[in-house]
Amino acid sequence: MDTIIILDFGSQYTQLIARKIREQNVYCEIHPFDKIPALTADVKGVVFSGSPYSCNAADAPVPDMSNIKGKLPLLAVCYGAQYLAKWGGGRVQQSKIREYGRANLNFIDSSNPLMKGVPMGSQVWMSHGDTIEVLPEGYKTICSTENVKYAGYQIEGEQTYAIQFHPEVHHSVDGNTLLRNFVVDICGCRQDWTPASFIETTVKELCEKVGGDKVVLGLSGGVDSTVAAVLLNRAIGHQLHCIFVDNGLLRKNEFESVLESYKDMGLNVKGVDAKDRFYGVLAGVTEPEKKRKAIGKTFIDVFDAEAKLITDAKWLGQGTIYPDVIESSSVKGPSQTIKSHHNVGGLPDYMKLKLVEPLRSLFKDEVRRVGRQLGIKDELIGRHPFPGPGLAIRILSDVTPEKVHILQEVDHIFIQGLRDAGLYDKVWQAGAMLLPVQSVGVMGDERTYESVVALRAVESVDGMTADWSHLPYDFMAKVSNEIINRVKGVNRVCYDISSKPPATIEWE
Ligand code: XMP
Repeated sequence: MDTIIILDFGSQYTQLIARKIREQNVYCEIHPFDKIPALTADVKGVVFSGSPYSCNAADAPVPDMSNIKGKLPLLAVCYGAQYLAKWGGGRVQQSKIREYGRANLNFIDSSNPLMKGVPMGSQVWMSHGDTIEVLPEGYKTICSTENVKYAGYQIEGEQTYAIQFHPEVHHSVDGNTLLRNFVVDICGCRQDWTPASFIETTVKELCEKVGGDKVVLGLSGGVDSTVAAVLLNRAIGHQLHCIFVDNGLLRKNEFESVLESYKDMGLNVKGVDAKDRFYGVLAGVTEPEKKRKAIGKTFIDVFDAEAKLITDAKWLGQGTIYPDVIESSSVKGPSQTIKSHHNVGGLPDYMKLKLVEPLRSLFKDEVRRVGRQLGIKDELIGRHPFPGPGLAIRILSDVTPEKVHILQEVDHIFIQGLRDAGLYDKVWQAGAMLLPVQSVGVMGDERTYESVVALRAVESVDGMTADWSHLPYDFMAKVSNEIINRVKGVNRVCYDISSKPPATIEWE
């Protein structure tokens, strides 16, 4: 498979570069700048990402370019461009004018292969504190903006290109053209990396890897574990044993309906009712991280006991996806862990199973495309993300079966309402929180003193940042009425209008 290697210098946009290249149906991988993989014949080109560092800083990341520069086509973005300029004897320094946000190209060398089809005036997205003041000899300018003379350059006699703006960001309107020029025309990659080709090679690899062994896999109802299971099922059929645990923290009727869908898809799946066990360990626990830990541990205990019943299982199947893989090896920028278990997973040491992770190289949207290609129903593929600890982290106090029941009813009205109004697919994630607050209300002639719920719906690309959804007022009025009239114990509905950051999507 023709491959592009992206070396990560810690930019917030590195994953975006990879996604944009894959949108060209070209396979690419991200690696930390100091862990360059073997550059086999499949590798057709290299991209240097941006970075939060200045290339003049003492601890700035320095890549080993000995097998790259001048030997393979190279595209250096932002920090990469500045690093290469400095490396060649140029001067990079803090820019005097703001170079953040939109700018327009006012000079383009249209004979340059990187700039082919990029029109004069094209809007680009700048985001850098440093700028290139002096370009080394033998470096040729290929585009400029009013404030940035060396917005892009090529090193003469080499397939080495550099740009100080970010082609991967949506606001660089011809960014896709530029990336296509690089990966297709300059690197010569074939554009044959598609969901169908992924399925074909993955099924073959899975058959070879697993052979006649048994695989155990935990299904969660989410997209990733479902697609992983269907792929494995296609490769090894009923050697795959799926376990779907009811932790009592799922949405209304979710366990039954999802279990039914799994069976319809021909999966060899066992549903395990462990509700009471989870309610037992959660009794009296109010602290969010303690809830997460208790749920995680109980899940492993239940799963382990079930897995042991499958004699001679050798493998554990997991729906790990590419962002989880990159996150655990990426060059650390300023971000830090806010909530403990976004990358759930990992095995207790005593489970001596080998891991098989068929989606390890895919982004979320690619998992969905593969799922559709596998014929999985849209209803399952298009589902909003739902956290592993489920409704427990949407109940802002201790968890009881009664509170779960109330929240399930509220959530159901909201989600079904979104579906009925044709809004479900416009929202990235939605749900309801049960607040530890009682408020006074009046129903008929009676005073009530009942719970408050908060609805949350967000728009996002990957959950890292999110904006609250501007749902229509009449829709919200209808949902609020329905909740207050139908759910006993709730007399007030609020809507969360906070963006992430600073607010997170889940309240706990
Ligand atoms: P936050 O609340 O951090 O959530 O803005 C971002 C995304 O992650 C999901 N989330 C979790 N998923 N275990 C999970 O599997 C968790 O503990 C967890 N906490 C948050 C959240 O639903 C959103 O999609």
